[in-house]
Amino acid sequence: MSAPQPISNLTQAFEKTGLSSSPRNTVSTSPTTSYMDQYKPSSKASKTLKPFSTGDVKILLLENVNQTALDIFGQQGYQVEFLKTSLPEEELIEKIKDVHAIGIRSKTRLTENVLKHAKHLVAIGCFCIGTNQVDLEFAAKSGIAVFNSPFSNSRSVAELTIAEIIALSRELGDRNMELHNGFWNKKSARCWEVRGKTLGIVGYGHIGSQLSVLAESLGMNVLYYDVTMIMSLGNSKQVGSLAELLNNSDFISLHVPETPDTKQMISTPQLAEMKDGAYLINNSRGTVVDLPALIDALKIGKLAGACIDVYPKEPRANGPHFNGDELLPFIDELKSLKNVILTPHIGGSTEEAQSAIGIEVGTVLSKYLNEGASVGAVNFPEVSLRPLDLDEQNVCRILYIHHNVPGVLKTVNQILSDYNIEKQFSDSRGDIAYLMADVSGVNSDDIKNLYTELEATSYNISTRLLY
Ligand SMILES: NC(=O)c1ccc[n+]([C@@H]2O[C@H](COP(=O)([O-])OP(=O)(O)OC[C@H]3O[C@@H](n4cnc5c(N)ncnc54)[C@H](O)[C@@H]3O)[C@@H](O)[C@H]2O)c1
Repeated sequence: MSAPQPISNLTQAFEKTGLSSSPRNTVSTSPTTSYMDQYKPSSKASKTLKPFSTGDVKILLLENVNQTALDIFGQQGYQVEFLKTSLPEEELIEKIKDVHAIGIRSKTRLTENVLKHAKHLVAIGCFCIGTNQVDLEFAAKSGIAVFNSPFSNSRSVAELTIAEIIALSRELGDRNMELHNGFWNKKSARCWEVRGKTLGIVGYGHIGSQLSVLAESLGMNVLYYDVTMIMSLGNSKQVGSLAELLNNSDFISLHVPETPDTKQMISTPQLAEMKDGAYLINNSRGTVVDLPALIDALKIGKLAGACIDVYPKEPRANGPHFNGDELLPFIDELKSLKNVILTPHIGGSTEEAQSAIGIEVGTVLSKYLNEGASVGAVNFPEVSLRPLDLDEQNVCRILYIHHNVPGVLKTVNQILSDYNIEKQFSDSRGDIAYLMADVSGVNSDDIKNLYTELEATSYNISTRLLY
């Protein structure tokens, strides 16, 4: 093996190989500073890896993603093209051909037809919660990791729920509508303080647990039901069954994911279990509540009110959607009911949530481009290696996305067998597997050979080398 060389020599040597013009399968340069430094776990200086010379990384950001993401990519020195709108498919195909990463929100559809043109793309950032707009399977098969931001808006949903608890118990929606229509209706009957009342939370995850803390600070008692045993925050108490929660709560707030188990988990039998005059809030998913059953419970006065933010079927764009059954067949009935607050899926829609989404997705995308860490990917094995120490010279990080079939590790380790493998980690998800390895004592020729040999394996989907 050749003698170790300074990293600057390696960079120059490697530029001559021409491999850096093949971005998805590429070898990197290694600048000494990076935005990611602030996320390093230890105080010990770590070596920063980069996939290409920074000016070569091209990112297309569509749909007006938040400025926080632009700032992150700007600090990395990436070439960013920023557009406020989504693009028609033909324009998208043209633009996606050249970029290494793309950032979208919910309107851009990254179908197989679009992605098959994305020859350099290594990552997609969905600057939103959902990822239905991306063909996740095709992306994974093409070695493209997809990231999103599932929890950046938890606080916003919890705060909206607090507002709704008070709004329901004071019939705020109705008073507001009445006065807007010129009707003065000062009343206190069946209007309550929330202090001392019991909030029952179904699903004590990111949102449910935040809500519990906020509700307790208002003097509420908090019960929660969750399929998992979870340590309570504050004085809240986990109960053993949904029925126990329903029997004992003045307000029920739903914060479960959409799964076969949660489909219509609140229907006639569950509504019957609730206290007379209780309130129901659904800011989770539209499928969780049986809306016709809720309408019946409100009509007969079993419940004193409800807030609905999410619906089984929702319009894709803002505007008038109340004709026919476009939104809901029973929207007219919901609109006619007293103390029912209807909102258009705005639980997580705040400036703060958008900003947090920009930071979260911007950071994971940079981390994937710079270090290969795929933690948080929704379609891909989640793999990470601890950063390299600053004093680790002539080390190369291998990122090898491959078909999940027998014999791969034997082949890869045969290729790596002449070098010292500092660390190695591999995981699979379905047909796709991802191996990360740090190999030391390599010079530019070694790196070139490693790249060529790994890329030539029959299992290869995509190979990147960072140093
Ligand atoms: N309205 C909005 O704008 C908005 C915004 C963000 C999230 N959401 C929705 O809110 C819901 C909760 O989000 P989160 O981030 O808190 O999720 P999370 O995954 O952090 O928490 C969900 C909790 O529900 C529990 N759970 C799952 N199945 C259950 C069941 N059958 N019975 C009881 N508990 C169950 C889980 O164990 C977990 O603790 C999700 O449906 C999400 O899509 C809505």
